[in-house]
Amino acid sequence: MAQKLIIDTDPGVDDAFAIALAALSSDVDLLGVTTVHGNVPLSATTINARRILALCKRADVPVAAGAPRPLVHRSPHEAGEVHGSDGLSGRSAALPEPSRPLDERDAVTLLAELLEASDTPVTIAPIGPLTNIAALLAAHPAAAAKIDRIVIMGGALGHGNTTAAAEFNIWSDPEAAQRVLTGGDAPCVLVPMDLTYRCAVDAAWLDELDASGPIGAALHALTPDYRTHYRGALGWDGMVVHDAVAVAEAIRPGTLRTERVPVQVECSFGPGRGATLADRRLPALRAATDGAAPASEVDVAVDTDLAALRALLLDRLR
Ligand code: RIB
Ligand code: CA
Repeated sequence: MAQKLIIDTDPGVDDAFAIALAALSSDVDLLGVTTVHGNVPLSATTINARRILALCKRADVPVAAGAPRPLVHRSPHEAGEVHGSDGLSGRSAALPEPSRPLDERDAVTLLAELLEASDTPVTIAPIGPLTNIAALLAAHPAAAAKIDRIVIMGGALGHGNTTAAAEFNIWSDPEAAQRVLTGGDAPCVLVPMDLTYRCAVDAAWLDELDASGPIGAALHALTPDYRTHYRGALGWDGMVVHDAVAVAEAIRPGTLRTERVPVQVECSFGPGRGATLADRRLPALRAATDGAAPASEVDVAVDTDLAALRALLLDRLR
């Protein structure tokens, strides 16, 4: 049975790899793609998502635009310095133009209608800020019953990337992340940057992707600005395909090893804003101090077979 999947995304170079991974996987039923503010403004993330699906020849997949800004507080900045001014290293316009028009529904409506129409539970893979997902859960509480899992790229157990404490997706809308991660609406998997950094791909992997065929070459062509950023962030010539790691788990459950713990999001305006605080104390100690009803737990991804993951990505993206 094909894995039913909806991706919520802010393309974004690693988002492009993640969307292609799902779009090119025959064991995935990609029901739809919804877009959100994040790496670049919503208008750019939306055309980028549509062009990536056009590259993968998936005009059957609807794309609906969602939130242009965070739920409560505006985000101080986007990530154009990481992904390039258009979100795809300045190469978005080199991608095929979409033949399918933008869906006239907004993202939350498309998500709710796809969930309602599905006869089996659907996995949602948010790989950008969680604004659309928080809005969906708030506006359509009944829809949660049709969600199999919410597999999120975001958060950091150790240091962040956007700040010392916070990873970009969570930092971009901490209030939305707190709603999704603590609401207990549906089972959540959180794929933090601690693990996605360990899954970084090297120059040889990227060269193999480039030589693998027209789609691989087109994806490779999106990487220059992103690769420059990660050459500095990693200290060697590679890049971190954060979102593809999360989508690999979404399409092949069990790819990542997880620990089930409560996660809270720091929503104050101090230096820790956007931090994801995983409570990894033993349950007995937690219970002794928590007293009140235990906090909702999420499955935090902590490990994987790195070589097998990189091979899966390359195999699917060829
Ligand atoms: O911190 C990495 C995350 O932020 C990824 O989803 C990347 O696309 C950016 O959105
Ligand atoms: Ca992203």
